[in-house]
Amino acid sequence: MPPLSAPPPEALQPSPGGRAAPGLAGKTAIVTGAAGGIGAAIVQALLDDGAKVGLIDRDVQAGAALAARLAGAGHGVHFVQADIQDFAACTAAYDTLAQALGNADILINNAGISPKTGGRALKVWEMPPQEWDMVMRVNLNAAFYLTRLATPHMMARRWGRIVNMSSVAGKAYCDIVAAHYAATKAGLIGLTRHWAGELGEYGITVNALAPGRIGTPLLKTVPQEVNDAVTRVTAMRRLGTPEEVADACLFLASDQARFITGQTIDIAGGWLMT
Ligand SMILES: NC(=O)c1ccc[n+]([C@@H]2O[C@H](COP(=O)([O-])OP(=O)(O)OC[C@H]3O[C@@H](n4cnc5c(N)ncnc54)[C@H](O)[C@@H]3O)[C@@H](O)[C@H]2O)c1
Repeated sequence: MPPLSAPPPEALQPSPGGRAAPGLAGKTAIVTGAAGGIGAAIVQALLDDGAKVGLIDRDVQAGAALAARLAGAGHGVHFVQADIQDFAACTAAYDTLAQALGNADILINNAGISPKTGGRALKVWEMPPQEWDMVMRVNLNAAFYLTRLATPHMMARRWGRIVNMSSVAGKAYCDIVAAHYAATKAGLIGLTRHWAGELGEYGITVNALAPGRIGTPLLKTVPQEVNDAVTRVTAMRRLGTPEEVADACLFLASDQARFITGQTIDIAGGWLMT
């Protein structure tokens, strides 16, 4: 793609009348980790608001079943099985979805892993370098790969939304997770600010969400007592739901959030309150 000229002055003006355009009809979104707890809720929220959604997940059974159920309900969806740890796999997945649904206007970098050993996060002196590298690739590199693939098209349209799934563990010390997870989630916050700075003049916002403890399969990587202990020190005295994260994600993807960029929003019910 040739380099883009500077955006025309009207691309930098507020929308006519000052109010937000309603809904996401006509927009195409891509969600990574789409078959997981939070990913599936985000897919549903985007579809309910009128977008077409491309689903990427390495879990072919869960992803295909979810896509079939959503297509059966009349939604515009397409599922691609991919392990997003390398650029070639991300490129193939992006191209397949662009063919099926059109280039992405909205990118949700949601896929993430938080490996434990025997329900426990390994300390620095115990950490196998292979596990460290894998968490970097899935949680951080893949967000770069897909953002690299999607942004030229968003820039050409002078509109785009990117949401990176961070964590409160990227902002505050949390001994439930290992350092690799904390480092990638902090890294996503840095990427969010930096990409927001690079892409704002093209009408693209970049924000991050920092969930606390949310009731998904990821929580089962630690014993129940660990999640109970978090609940006791959470202001709302409960875990969050995937739908609560999805609602905030939908807001950031919407026109209502058109002047919000480079930000990270906690969705943690008052846990850690970073
Ligand atoms: N659940 C929580 O309490 C919580 C808290 C903070 C942040 N988060 C973040 O939210 C995001 C979603 O978490 P979740 O709780 O829904 O987890 P989940 O385990 O339910 O879902 C993660 C999904 O990502 C997919 N995935 C993992 N590795 C992949 C790869 N290499 N290629 C393609 N797909 C891959 C999995 O198959 C799964 O469907 C993650 O980034 C996680 O770190 C979750």
